[in-house]
Amino acid sequence: MNFPADLLSLLGRTSKLVAITGAGVSQESGLRTFRDAQTGLWAQYKPEDLASPEAFRRDPKLIWDWYAWRREAVKGVRPNAGHYALVDIEARIPEFTLITQNVDGLHRMAGSKNVLELHGNIQRVRCAECYTFTETWGDDTESVPQCSICSGLLRPDVVWFGEALPRDQLEAAVEAARTCELFFSIGTSGVVQPAASLAHAARNRGAVVVEINAEPTPLSSKANYVFHGKSGEILPRVVEAVWG
Ligand code: APR
Repeated sequence: MNFPADLLSLLGRTSKLVAITGAGVSQESGLRTFRDAQTGLWAQYKPEDLASPEAFRRDPKLIWDWYAWRREAVKGVRPNAGHYALVDIEARIPEFTLITQNVDGLHRMAGSKNVLELHGNIQRVRCAECYTFTETWGDDTESVPQCSICSGLLRPDVVWFGEALPRDQLEAAVEAARTCELFFSIGTSGVVQPAASLAHAARNRGAVVVEINAEPTPLSSKANYVFHGKSGEILPRVVEAVWG
């Protein structure tokens, strides 16, 4: 895959770059995406049945166990070359912001620093009532662990459908997207709002938008550069081509 010379030179001289990532960037680590027709989580489960506050009220144990299963899956994997390439890019760009929709924590595990977690983090657990975070909880097989402060049920600190995103993370993401020179959209289907609007906000403010995704998305026709393939293969080549 060859990269256009003007993109490489822009990357080499830009001072403000934003990258947004989705489940696709963790696929090569062995984690399932959400909307892949065959292997996507939402191909097997209905998101409203497992990732909504209503579902948690209806059957908290089912939801707790499902996230416990996903948490174990994340513990069993490591960042891939795509995650590490983003760490390399962060080290070379004066102002780099990594916005992620992923709750797997793999970007930080790879060494990324300026990370905005729009949808929370599956490794964090908090009380559904009083919001108290806890590092430890009993793994009673019968019931959902309770908060030591208010006895409310514990839940993963992730954003469920219909819930608001963490305000500080979202405001910082919007500000970064609106003021960047270069915006990379990586491994996301670009259909979930408000994350999906950030690339368009950057484009409307004159930023150059680059999409790296295994398949076309609604952003593909709006992006300045589109590379369809695996992020774990393409991103290291971008780093090599600019700074190799
Ligand atoms: N490299 C690059 N792109 C990939 C790869 C890969 N190795 N593997 C899959 N993809 C692409 C798919 O083609 C798809 O377009 O990644 C995209 C993943 O899209 P989704 O499964 O929809 O995941 P995402 O965009 O992160 O979903 C957004 O939706 O379900 C909610 O909260 C959840 O954060 C999630 C949000």
